[in-house]
Amino acid sequence: MSETTGRKFALLPMLGHTKGKRSPVTCALKCDNACSGEVCNTSSNSYFRDIASATMSRRAALGFGAAGALAVVLGSAVTSAGTAVADGGTGLAAAAKDGFGKSKLQFTAIPSIAADVDTLTVPAGFTWQPVIRWGDPIFNDAPAFDINNQTAAAQEKQFGYNNDYTDILEVPGSKGRRAVLFANHEYTNENIMFPATMPAADVRAVGAAAHGLTVVELERQNKNKPWSYVQGAGLNRRYLNSTVYELTGPAAGSSLMKTIDDPSGRKIKGTLGNCAGGTTPWGTILSGEENFNGYFVSPGTSASDKRYGLTSSATARKWELDDPRFDTRNAGYANEANRFGWIVEVDPFDPTSTPKKHSSLGRFKHEGANVIVAESGHAVAYSGDDERFDYLYKFVSKDKYREGDRKHNMTLLSAGNLYVAKFTGNSPAAEITGTGAVPADGAFDGTGEWLPLVVDGASAVPGMSVEEVLVYTRLAADKVGPTKMDRCEDVEPSLHTGKVYVACTNNSDRGKAGKEGATEINPRNANRDGHIVEITETGDQTATAFTWNLLMVCGDPAQGDVTYFSGFPVDQVSPISCPDNLAFDSVGNLWISTDGAPAGIGRADGLFKVTLDGADRGKVEQFLAVPRDGETCGPIVHDDERTVFVSVQHPGEEGTFDAPNSYFPDYVPAGTTPARGQARAPRPSVVQVFRG
Ligand code: FEO
Ligand code: CA
Ligand code: CA
Repeated sequence: MSETTGRKFALLPMLGHTKGKRSPVTCALKCDNACSGEVCNTSSNSYFRDIASATMSRRAALGFGAAGALAVVLGSAVTSAGTAVADGGTGLAAAAKDGFGKSKLQFTAIPSIAADVDTLTVPAGFTWQPVIRWGDPIFNDAPAFDINNQTAAAQEKQFGYNNDYTDILEVPGSKGRRAVLFANHEYTNENIMFPATMPAADVRAVGAAAHGLTVVELERQNKNKPWSYVQGAGLNRRYLNSTVYELTGPAAGSSLMKTIDDPSGRKIKGTLGNCAGGTTPWGTILSGEENFNGYFVSPGTSASDKRYGLTSSATARKWELDDPRFDTRNAGYANEANRFGWIVEVDPFDPTSTPKKHSSLGRFKHEGANVIVAESGHAVAYSGDDERFDYLYKFVSKDKYREGDRKHNMTLLSAGNLYVAKFTGNSPAAEITGTGAVPADGAFDGTGEWLPLVVDGASAVPGMSVEEVLVYTRLAADKVGPTKMDRCEDVEPSLHTGKVYVACTNNSDRGKAGKEGATEINPRNANRDGHIVEITETGDQTATAFTWNLLMVCGDPAQGDVTYFSGFPVDQVSPISCPDNLAFDSVGNLWISTDGAPAGIGRADGLFKVTLDGADRGKVEQFLAVPRDGETCGPIVHDDERTVFVSVQHPGEEGTFDAPNSYFPDYVPAGTTPARGQARAPRPSVVQVFRG
């Protein structure tokens, strides 16, 4: 489509393509039609060997004192301004020392909600309101949202689109009345954001400004009142495509990172495709650059282009028309796509700080990253590569965490060892039927290894330098034989137990002709509904060996799906499909948000509590469901305040501007004029759910 014709989304080049019932809009705009293309991992690496004779005690391997580790993790931290910062914002220390307990957040599970219901459904006795919505003004000079008069200049000063990872950290000394909210903005849905009359160049400019990250201050009267955001507050910040990130670690300054705009190979403009994230023990935020390939036109012929899904096709948003760096075939920009696909770290308490991209954690489609401090003091970060048949990674810092030394701790992700996971099952291969039926020993379980990619500053991959391993991490991992997984989304360690939870969201291609079939760790062919892996490191978190088991194999038992919930009766769980983001409450329960349930079990996406301990281990209880076409992400569970936050991403994305599929969250009635700052169009929002 010409640049000047209305806009219209020729934008959806693959419209018509879907996997199952997945929205074609999601496929095109979020993942660059990843599922329609060939699987990026065509390596012959199949590596999962089921060893029938292997036996292990799943629980015996947790050889470290979790509470002891937590004492290290949860020491106080200090901002660069010298202000004390609450660690991680989770407040888990005391509860963790007491073991699992009863949460103050008690609720009756909601029923599963139909996928076309355009409401946010919460449990009886709870209510909800948005904390901040797409377009809400962040700075004092930001205009009120006006959907019919959008400009890039306005959007740069307003909350971005499609908020995904979210966290809320209390501002020290505020007695619980002030906090900072972080949200990233994964992608844009131009088809529902902009009027059809808007010029294409303006669509591109506003869409670009709606990407990036936001930090905004929140306030409330007291702990019993809901939060509101504060326009013009001192910590408010938008991170835009023009924001400069400092690349750290061995790839910084590498010839693989230099461009005509950045001969240093250390100063990268912008962050793209931000999906999940994590909050570090030292009070910074990590965010994962995921589907960055969809923003670049590339030759598409090299092994690395193919492995990362970079092609010569025009991109969906066509930013390459405005900025030559988005076409890596342009002179001087051959390396531009190498500058994305990293873990980003930002300091939400210092609006003048330079955000970082950490090359030590490798480059792939990072869903996010979550850090725990091992008993040894090393910071350990877990991160999944969300692509069919890609891998799970672990980073172990070279230096140790220092309690209270925030400046030092903010360097920990700059140097360390990088590993990739290999899983081995303990049941006979013949018992893994591909249906999800549990094998005869009653568990999907086994052992595993963290295979080294970088150790002590040196490459552990034959024929590749450290820089090459970190920039082309997928290619490096292919050489060492890790396990091909079913799209690892969030990976999160429990601060109660040290166990690590991995959300494998689905894999439509598992078991297809020519593709790896079901194994004990990914036990279902054409895996529609996903599963959750539970890893127990052998020793402290820096160990290179682990045991594992599946916490659950998702689905809807009432529809006849073969499911597994750690032995909990399947007729007593909320149906769940396509696990995506993970969080823990203060007493150690796991919370799971989903993305894709409409295409899985045919129900709305939602947020679910999962009991991990005691007689109810494996019990799934649905807490909320999001409006039509929406995905649930960024869960924050402040159960001590009986409050939950979620990001509602891409509500109504299958509609159009003129014929919305959702009216969330303003629900302006037809025939009435939206009030100032309201819109009839759906608006991705961070939502607070509380007693009331
Ligand atoms: Fe953006 Fe892997 O979800
Ligand atoms: Ca087994
Ligand atoms: Ca996600």
